[in-house]
Amino acid sequence: MCGIVGYVGSKEAAPLLIEGLKRLEYRGYDSAGVATLSNGAFTVRRSPGKLSNLIARLEGVSTPGTTGLGHTLWATHGRPTEGNAHPHTDCTGRIVVIHNGIFENFAERKASLLAAGHRFTSETDTEVFAHEVEAAFEGDLLAAVRTAVGRLSGAYALVVSSSEEPGVIVAARSGPPIVLGIGSGESYVASDPVALAPWTRDVVFLEDGDLARVDAAGFSICDADGRPLKRVPHRILWDAVAAEKWGYRHFMLKQIHEQPTALAETLGGKISLATGELSLESELLAPERVAAFDRVLLLACGTSWHSALIGKFLIEGMARLPVEVDYGSEFRYRRPVVDAATLTIGISQSGETADTVAALSEARRAGSPLLAVVNVAGSQIARMADAVVATHAGPEIGVASTKAFTTQLAVLYLLAAKLRESRGLGKGLTPGETAALAHLPKAASRALATEPRVEDLARQFHGARDFLFLGRGPHYPVALEGALKLKEISYIHAEGYPAGEMKHGPIALVDENLPVFVLAPHDNWREKTISNLREVKSRDGIAIVVTTREDAEIADAADEVLRLPETSPELQPILSVIPLQLFAYHVAVRRGCDVDQPRNLAKSVTVE
Ligand code: G6P
Repeated sequence: MCGIVGYVGSKEAAPLLIEGLKRLEYRGYDSAGVATLSNGAFTVRRSPGKLSNLIARLEGVSTPGTTGLGHTLWATHGRPTEGNAHPHTDCTGRIVVIHNGIFENFAERKASLLAAGHRFTSETDTEVFAHEVEAAFEGDLLAAVRTAVGRLSGAYALVVSSSEEPGVIVAARSGPPIVLGIGSGESYVASDPVALAPWTRDVVFLEDGDLARVDAAGFSICDADGRPLKRVPHRILWDAVAAEKWGYRHFMLKQIHEQPTALAETLGGKISLATGELSLESELLAPERVAAFDRVLLLACGTSWHSALIGKFLIEGMARLPVEVDYGSEFRYRRPVVDAATLTIGISQSGETADTVAALSEARRAGSPLLAVVNVAGSQIARMADAVVATHAGPEIGVASTKAFTTQLAVLYLLAAKLRESRGLGKGLTPGETAALAHLPKAASRALATEPRVEDLARQFHGARDFLFLGRGPHYPVALEGALKLKEISYIHAEGYPAGEMKHGPIALVDENLPVFVLAPHDNWREKTISNLREVKSRDGIAIVVTTREDAEIADAADEVLRLPETSPELQPILSVIPLQLFAYHVAVRRGCDVDQPRNLAKSVTVE
């Protein structure tokens, strides 16, 4: 949420900042801005709306300087106007600040700064920080930032520069991520290593409470009291090209099509296709540790929460351990019953969702060991966990999550098998399970081949006002995910529901204008789901059925049928969601929506 890029070196900063911000625009696109420093003075340029507005604004104007900061904003305080866009400055214009997060006591601090004579030009909480630094500045920017962070409470990733100390950027973190990029004779800061992909893969993640002083020669890190700290550099393996569109019209479409490869990457190295052996090497999953667990707690938000709901089916079904699922945002504010006998699994694409981070910290406080299922290596959730099982989906740039979801499901399946093994209920994967996994990437490619049919459905139904998605068992969360995808990117009202619950309410919505997606693969729930399908039809609803075989009963009751390859019931959700992702995509394109950057959303939500 909010993208930050900073550069200090010998090149012109502005073009680099813009290039980095382009890679971060998924984090927020309410406004954008840059500040560069040349000859002792900052040039600050800001624009409301998307980064393209800022780029247009920079054309033909000089934005000189080899030190600079840039930002894309997801608005939290004040409307996304130019005045509220970052960077913000102090009264003298000698200090510029960019901030991701929220200062909780900003109103109180602002009142006190106003009383001391500071003049404010925006409604933001961030500007308070610029004035705090101004008030504390005595010639040492790092020292002033240390004092200023001590006066404000809340969450922050901050980058600060001063014309009094040219060639220096100070960064500070408490909550939202900040990463330092190590170059040769130049250094970077960013909120996501993706921003730095073309320039460096050697990065250092700041930890909570860290402050860093960055110049062209390198960096030093200290804590709030100024004590030096050592942080280990990471080498990011992602290829810069993975964050490009490669001829696809949108990142979302590219990422939907990457699923076969992403699944293969995620499974590779974690299983032996020859023997069914699982190699999830983690002390936390060893038999003696697992014997101590009497339940599993899955915590996540958004699409990752839908993965968790399916994970419950997998873990309970395969490993016979009771599983509880909760939203990060709900868990943290109740009084959950959690202890050392609970294995907590946090699921997150970004590894930085604030509510999930806070919920996991709660579970940890209660004595529960943590396992992370994350896509972004080195992310906050990965670093706080006792063990990590990575999804290798590659960078996901489009805001609506697709390949992260299906790879999470693949990992949860392997985790369920591993827990089963460690509980002495089986050894590795059965030959049938191994074969199903071996075929999964190909099956995902075949599911993608439904695209022309799905596009045709999008053409027919893109004008509908509401949609209903129904499923049973592990296809109920798939229905939720199908509805979420449509809501997120096409702004159409859509509801996902357990098919059997439809009669307790949503059936009142069914009429000849309501398209209803019914997920009816050939599994144990098929017959019951077909009864629900008939209930839709007898009220004139438009039934679009996603199934796996030629099926006369379904053909008879449905208006439209999409057939997918069949895999095991546990893995089928991975395939079933693919046409729903494609449907949401093509509807959004037909409605002229901004697919990769839907309004009001952000890719990773680092505020509460
Ligand atoms: C945001 C994104 C969703 C995502 C959710 C959780 O709301 O727009 O696509 O599912 O955050 O993100 P995470 O990175 O924790 O999986």
